Amino acid sequence: MNGFMYYCPVRVHFGENGVERVLPMELQQVGATVMLAYGGGSVKRTGLYDKLVGILEQAGKRVVDFGGITSNPTYEMVLRGAETVKDENVDFILAVGGGSVMDCVKIISSASKAPKDYWEMFFNDHKAITDGTPWGAVVTLSGTGSEMNGGAGITNAAKGTKATLFGTHARFAISDPTYLLTVPQKQLASGIFDNLSHCMETYFQDGDCVSDAMNEAVMHDIVRNARAWRKDPQNLELLSNLLWDSALPQSFLFGCGKRGGFQCHPIEAQLCAYTNSNHGMALAVIHPSYYRHIMKDAPEKFARFGQKVFDLDPAGKTAEALAEEAVEALASFIRDLGLDSTFTALGLNVDEEILHQVAESCAIADGVPRRLDRAEIYALLREVL
Ligand code: NZQ
Ligand code: ZN
Repeated sequence: MNGFMYYCPVRVHFGENGVERVLPMELQQVGATVMLAYGGGSVKRTGLYDKLVGILEQAGKRVVDFGGITSNPTYEMVLRGAETVKDENVDFILAVGGGSVMDCVKIISSASKAPKDYWEMFFNDHKAITDGTPWGAVVTLSGTGSEMNGGAGITNAAKGTKATLFGTHARFAISDPTYLLTVPQKQLASGIFDNLSHCMETYFQDGDCVSDAMNEAVMHDIVRNARAWRKDPQNLELLSNLLWDSALPQSFLFGCGKRGGFQCHPIEAQLCAYTNSNHGMALAVIHPSYYRHIMKDAPEKFARFGQKVFDLDPAGKTAEALAEEAVEALASFIRDLGLDSTFTALGLNVDEEILHQVAESCAIADGVPRRLDRAEIYALLREVL
């Protein structure tokens, strides 16, 4: 097993009425001025915003409003947030939303304490700030598991890239499955696939250890609960499982002892930089195509994946045949989720030129069944245009 350092300092409060139950207690431990950070308005439509402002005021906090964080958050918004934190003497940030709001806030947190531009500091000086302005999360959308880690996908339009920066972990996360009841079904399906993708991208890295056994159990659980959720979308038990399923891999627990990178995520990140693609929906297009290219490089692992995650029957089949069946089972699961299998069906404004740019600019992973070259990345994207 490869050596590793495992650290996940987030206090997770899981369950219904989480905000009412634990936010007042958490607020006792933070300073007087709280920045309330949120997205495009769902929190106002659902009534959560008013509830939170009430609890904050009841706790005697001064509330600084910071709304309008878009999906695929921008570095421009990070800088605006960091300025607000400094100008308003913010003591604590409460991030209310999905991966985009949480990612934006964890970098705002670090950038607000940085002695210079955080992007330059992170990428040029290779330094991160992990103890920025303290923050906590109210999770309103599952999938990214962003509440569990310090990483963040941030689009830098000026540089033509979407990159992963590391910032500050949340002090706490309030994960209440009832908030998932208002998420549009296709968006929740996107989150479910993103969750499965985090598991798969880790599973197919080099190494075979207890991490893979835990990972298989969670992947099987995602598929089982997701299929049931499609038939019963307001079932809180299913939503609870899907919410916790999405948090588990994102503490990077399943990466312990493994070695290697993600390949579909860096491709999607650059696709996003050019097209502002929806993260989970675009990953659902990319994955089967990528796996059709590499399954012959690790047939036994794909065969095991098919048995453990999709309950495929191995009787009388070669590893190669079972591997192929596993990838088609994945493609079929994606269709069952109501997700698209081509960029055109997804409604993305892409052409061959953009796909070339994506293939030329994305990071290429090692520690995967086979390292791809840029021509093959273009080919696998072109196959699902
Ligand atoms: O903006 P509002 O109006 O709030 O609406 C959002 C948004 O339109 C809506 N929504 C969220 N909660 C809702 C709700 N609508 C109704 N009811 C609710 N309870 O959902 C839409 C999508 O939200 P967003 O946060 O953009 O989605 P997601 O959670 O998928 O986050 C995507 C971002 O996370 C990054 C991605 O790169 C992308 O930028 N990721 C972060 C990761 C991490 N930090 O660990 C890992 C992932 O791989 C991913 O890269
Ligand atoms: Zn993801």
